[in-house]
Amino acid sequence: MKVLILPDAAVAADRVAGLIASYLAQDQDPVLGLATGETMRPVYARIVALHQAGRADFSQATSFNLDEYVGVAPDHPASFAAFMRQALFDHVNIDPARAHLPRGDAPDPVAEAARYEAAIDAAGGIGLQVLGIGQNGHIAFNEPTSSLGSRTRVKTLTEATRLANAPAFAPQPVPRHAITMGIATILDARSCVLLATGASKAQAVARMIEGPLGADCPATALQLHPAATVVLDEHAARDLKLRNYYETVHPSGAEVRLGC
Ligand code: GLP
Repeated sequence: MKVLILPDAAVAADRVAGLIASYLAQDQDPVLGLATGETMRPVYARIVALHQAGRADFSQATSFNLDEYVGVAPDHPASFAAFMRQALFDHVNIDPARAHLPRGDAPDPVAEAARYEAAIDAAGGIGLQVLGIGQNGHIAFNEPTSSLGSRTRVKTLTEATRLANAPAFAPQPVPRHAITMGIATILDARSCVLLATGASKAQAVARMIEGPLGADCPATALQLHPAATVVLDEHAARDLKLRNYYETVHPSGAEVRLGC
């Protein structure tokens, strides 16, 4: 796992946006896995700016978002589909027909989850998966005790996650279920980049990077991924025990230079 510690949240978001833009430029047929959440807003704002500057081209891109609430249609203002249109899709040259999210309003959510997993496969799999992390260590909506071998499926949300996402739905309650890529689906991506900022994520981040692999913290599954990068700000890095090592390998989040 590559651990990059950046001085603040804005610089960390810039770094992730830069990684996405580089991936778009390198891959002739880019397939992005995308995340929602407040952490991602500055990343998408930066990508939109890069796009406007001619440095992020989505013309050949396909995207698959991680998750969507069950029972929530794409035109619902609290849907992840609405989040993505507002934060990114409406501002870049991605073909809307190739910007995929699970359909939260599908009549059969179980079948929709299976269809979504198959669609990722049919697109050739995800080249770069972008991730955030929940305070309880979830990635996408893979709550603690999710199977590390899970595929896209319907998952029951924890009360803590529903509380964290309450502002988007208020005064309505947050749905109890979501369709989410599974942990094995995420691990199939050829590379992953996870962004965490702020002290509220520090414990989950330390557990993800340095703790034992375990279903109580689904993000620890990234320890199994051969090409996972974790981008942190100072606050999210606060509880890391091996901080000196990460700073030695990547001073101020810089790339490795081999040699003397
Ligand atoms: C939600 C999303 C996750 C996201 C997490 C953290 O639960 N399903 O993909 O990583 O929230 O969100 P935030 O960035 O708002 O803390």
